[in-house]
Amino acid sequence: MADHAADHPADPLGNPPVADGPWFAVSVTCTTAAAELVADVLWQAGTPAVEERAVEERAAEERAGKGPDLVILLAGFPDQAVADQAADRVAEIGGGAVRSVSVAPVLDDGSDAWREHATAIEAGPFTLVPTWVDHHPVPGRQMLLLDPGATFGSGSHPTTRLVLDALARLVEPGDVVLDVGCGSGVLAIAAALLGAEAVGIDVDPAAPEVTVANARRNRVDQFVRYDDRPLADLAEQARSEGRRYDVVVANLLSPIVVDLASDLVEVVEAGGHLVVSGLLVDRLQPMLDAVDGLGPHLAMSLVEQIEAEGWAALTFVRSAHARPDLAQPELAQPELAQPDLAQQARRTRVTP
Ligand SMILES: C[S@@+](CC[C@H](N)C(=O)[O-])C[C@H]1O[C@@H](n2cnc3c(N)ncnc32)[C@H](O)[C@@H]1O
Repeated sequence: MADHAADHPADPLGNPPVADGPWFAVSVTCTTAAAELVADVLWQAGTPAVEERAVEERAAEERAGKGPDLVILLAGFPDQAVADQAADRVAEIGGGAVRSVSVAPVLDDGSDAWREHATAIEAGPFTLVPTWVDHHPVPGRQMLLLDPGATFGSGSHPTTRLVLDALARLVEPGDVVLDVGCGSGVLAIAAALLGAEAVGIDVDPAAPEVTVANARRNRVDQFVRYDDRPLADLAEQARSEGRRYDVVVANLLSPIVVDLASDLVEVVEAGGHLVVSGLLVDRLQPMLDAVDGLGPHLAMSLVEQIEAEGWAALTFVRSAHARPDLAQPELAQPELAQPDLAQQARRTRVTP
């Protein structure tokens, strides 16, 4: 997926590499279906961020709707040799998924070039307004001012907008919301604007400062807190002290969200909701299987699936009887049965 910081393999905390010289950008044009795979290869090669852009120049057959949808992925590397290696690995992806790969030096600092084209973005009841763009409040819409800096979370990615849309329907005043992978803080701030108290966590070292600054811009800094503990620690606190959240959101890469499934569910209050995104519509099964396989005390039911531009957000509700201290796994619990999660989903299409 696009527009976000990601783990750097050399650094388990996900710190981006530091470089003094010019960066090199790997630009890949590939099918939308292969975008996640290509992004994985770029991340594994060490980029701290992958940005997704629309393809403006399309072949005639694609314009006529006869070809596959294409996207451009851009990833920066601090070193040309590493960028070349990443490009080679991407080029090895078969099946006609990759249409072109190139490596070029980033002549200016590059990372800020997108700012010139940034505009206000509508997402659910929110209008996400870049702080450097003129925008007047519109009656009935909640303005959310954002400067994502070097973090993910400008709202330009469909998954962010999907989760914002879900949050607007789920959050009630007084709820406590956990935003796992808060990036710019956009989801935590939206939750606070809806009347919740929100906690953000992330592995990106830029996230705390950016989240707090954005919360201040929206005058919800007293309701948004950054917690520098990893999710595993919060899950442990949930088990030992019963500290859980009414709504947990996790807009992460699919493999990460699948890996974290157990801890994500653990921190959800009984009767509370978990919204996960970063999932491609045609690759939902690993997440559904991960949740399905968690066992009775972590039982969740899928209550909503929403989609935009090939991406999905899934909302699960945790069984009101699912707390470890209340669970009786040996007893039949028919209300926890999940015969076919996908069938239970209410499908809604979001037009961001
Ligand atoms: C796709 S971005 C989402 C940013 C923002 N919440 C949004 O929806 O636009 C994913 C974020 O998750 C963070 N992340 C990746 N792995 C993580 C982990 N294991 N725990 C917490 N955050 C993680 C990344 O650093 C990144 O900021």
